[in-house]
Amino acid sequence: SYFPAKDKGPDRSLGILKDGYNFARKRLQKQHLDVYETKLLGERAALLGGEKGAELFYDNDKMKRGGAMPAFILKTLFGENGIQTMDGNPFEHRKRLFLSLMTPEALDRLFQITAEYWERASEFWEKKRKVVLYNEMLTLLMKISCEWAGVPLKDKEVKKRADDFALMIDGFGSIGPKHLQSRKARQRSEQWFENLILDVREGKLEAQEGTAIFEMAMHRDLNGNHLDARMAAIELLNIVRPTVAVSKFITFGALAMEEFPEEKEKVAASEDYLYYFAQEVRRFYPFVPYLPARTKKEFAWQGYNFSEGQLVLIDVYGNNHDPRIWEEPETFNPERFRNWNGGLFDLIPQGGGDYEKNHRCPGEWSTLEILKASFQYIARHLDYKLPKQDLSYSLNKMPALPKDGFIMKSIKKK
Ligand code: HEM
Repeated sequence: SYFPAKDKGPDRSLGILKDGYNFARKRLQKQHLDVYETKLLGERAALLGGEKGAELFYDNDKMKRGGAMPAFILKTLFGENGIQTMDGNPFEHRKRLFLSLMTPEALDRLFQITAEYWERASEFWEKKRKVVLYNEMLTLLMKISCEWAGVPLKDKEVKKRADDFALMIDGFGSIGPKHLQSRKARQRSEQWFENLILDVREGKLEAQEGTAIFEMAMHRDLNGNHLDARMAAIELLNIVRPTVAVSKFITFGALAMEEFPEEKEKVAASEDYLYYFAQEVRRFYPFVPYLPARTKKEFAWQGYNFSEGQLVLIDVYGNNHDPRIWEEPETFNPERFRNWNGGLFDLIPQGGGDYEKNHRCPGEWSTLEILKASFQYIARHLDYKLPKQDLSYSLNKMPALPKDGFIMKSIKKK
């Protein structure tokens, strides 16, 4: 049927690479739309945006995840056949395993571990001429994440493992040699964790109940069987890898304290404000651009005819900057979270909808604990100067990060 809001003509796969985080926004928001058709990877794809678009994206009667994520992402960032690709009862069962790790005690522990590692790291940084915050965070969070998950990590392997994690996190979207390195990094990391899972099962490695390594090793599927050791390794990576990726939000948070100098004092002074600041960092700065799903059936919505099996993308970054949802979305303003009602489809940097029924990130709480511990430490205990550097980041480059990774010098603990 006739639907005017669409790209006519060629495939836009190159366009999405070139426009990055703005690709869907510039199509949807300029015309106040929730759906817009384009062509991507040789398919007719529907871009969804706005709270209504997000609600449709998370409607399990209409959407599924199986077959949605492109193979080049599964072979690098996520791992094949993991939770991100599951649907129905097996999905909900697997999701409860992830959610069971996020008890209040486990989250408190994560805050404590994070604060302790900041303390140690800053002592070390005082002796250095300068450090690149993003790089330091990758290794620091590698240690924090492994300790929290119960994964043994020797000092001398930290660098090697963290480099592989950085390749999985940053290399997946690249073309050519870096993409291949990203695949190899995933294979090495899966093998490392698979051996550890087997060690836990055979009693060669001691693991505490409630830690990710223990629960992944011991989990039983709906048929009462352990996960295949490789599958358990992939799911353990689905905990440890994104925890390391929190380094991006930390780097952006440090940038916010620089770009908006009045923020630092407010973050130091109040625990409530600390939380609003962490939320605003997650909303304001670019991280995940889009998420894919496929339609389960044919249906019409807002005058658009979805066909069965059609590729659908939700505009994650766009929703976090949608003027229909946020007042002055391009202003960094943590105060907006003081009276925020916690909508399921408005703040979606880590996905939206329901934790149990949808694919919404189970690591949102743990991300917030790490961010709170980190921003509080920076604001209260760290003095530093910034040497001349490029602090800019581009919305045209996915994934985004301040160009020089946030270089600090003359670091002093206070
Ligand atoms: C899912 C973002 C941190 C574990 C997701 C999704 C996004 C996301 C966008 C997909 C939502 C969807 O498909 O509907 C992020 C960002 C993080 C982060 C930006 C910050 C660095 C974490 C952490 C953990 C984690 C710290 C673990 C402790 C997961 C898992 C899934 C997931 C297991 C798959 C859930 C499912 O398929 O049901 N995350 N996440 N994430 N995240 Fe995170």
